[in-house]
Amino acid sequence: MPAFARNQWYVAAYGHEVGRELLGRRILGEPIAFYRTEDDAAEVVALADGCVHRRYPLSQGRLDGDQLVCGYHGFTYDRTGACVYVPGQKRVPRTARVSSYPVVEQDSFVWVWIGDPALADPATIPRARHLADPGWTSVSGMEPIDCDYGLLVDNLLDLSHETYLHGGYIGTPEVAETPITTEVDEGAGIVRVSRHMDDAACPPFYARSTGIEGRITRWQDIEYHAPCLYLLHSRVAPVGVLPHPDGTDPDAFHTEITYAITPSAPGHVYDFWAVSRDFAQDDAEVTAFLRDFNHTVVMQDVDALNVLQRALDAEPSGYQELSINIDTGGLAARRILTRLAEEGAKPVEHVS
Ligand code: FES
Ligand SMILES: [Fe+2]
Repeated sequence: MPAFARNQWYVAAYGHEVGRELLGRRILGEPIAFYRTEDDAAEVVALADGCVHRRYPLSQGRLDGDQLVCGYHGFTYDRTGACVYVPGQKRVPRTARVSSYPVVEQDSFVWVWIGDPALADPATIPRARHLADPGWTSVSGMEPIDCDYGLLVDNLLDLSHETYLHGGYIGTPEVAETPITTEVDEGAGIVRVSRHMDDAACPPFYARSTGIEGRITRWQDIEYHAPCLYLLHSRVAPVGVLPHPDGTDPDAFHTEITYAITPSAPGHVYDFWAVSRDFAQDDAEVTAFLRDFNHTVVMQDVDALNVLQRALDAEPSGYQELSINIDTGGLAARRILTRLAEEGAKPVEHVS
């Protein structure tokens, strides 16, 4: 499995999860405390989640204005991580500071930079615009999984598992039967996997949300931006309905399925998921259905990956996996992740 890739942006939370209550998350093994400032800017602050004094998690403390007070003996930090108060003495030691992390809020996500802060460039964060676009209605959630993040990457890049693991929910026989095409942009770190089904059964996920009766044309176009962001552009329409020659597609139903794959620690990953649709946008029943139904589907993956990780942990190392055509995208992703991990591990020279 690929190592962790540092010097990258990762989704730490949804924006709505970060407020005036402290939130603790562990990203690439680094414990981080998040909160939002109380001024109008309401910016997200991310500080290393271990007090310099005795390492008590700062996320167990409390906020005093925009300062964070350690819950053990009261060391107090400003939003830059500098300690501004210690108990029992006037002088605050110069070394009393915790790291602060670069943070960007975009497309409903809180992105955090793990690595050398001097290299953090917000322009390199991949976009998931539909999550904050009024033209789409979204449901979302997050599930922690006790597995290596590489298992979740594998899972998402090979949707043939829908037929078996999600049969009766989103899988139908055609998903596993239809060959994929894969395109890899090694330099940009993007893997695209497409599967276009011309005439397929309509699974309950789409039958109940779109109201289509009968068979469908179903397109799945995956776009994975390593290491963290996974987009599945899904298009369904009654059989035979194709996009207009001018590229518009008003007679089809579009769903954007977003995942953020954030390694938490070795053997642990945060699985952020969202389903956005451009139809029945104000239909509360469709919203409730997709939220519940997709949560069930996500939990099928969570359960399977928990089981798979335990099975892998129990076997002797050195097993040679057998890969076939459906694994092309997953193998490309592993290659890119391995490269990103190697690049992120190299020392960086600073010009100063
Ligand atoms: S551990 Fe934080 S003040 Fe002592
Ligand atoms: Fe799945």
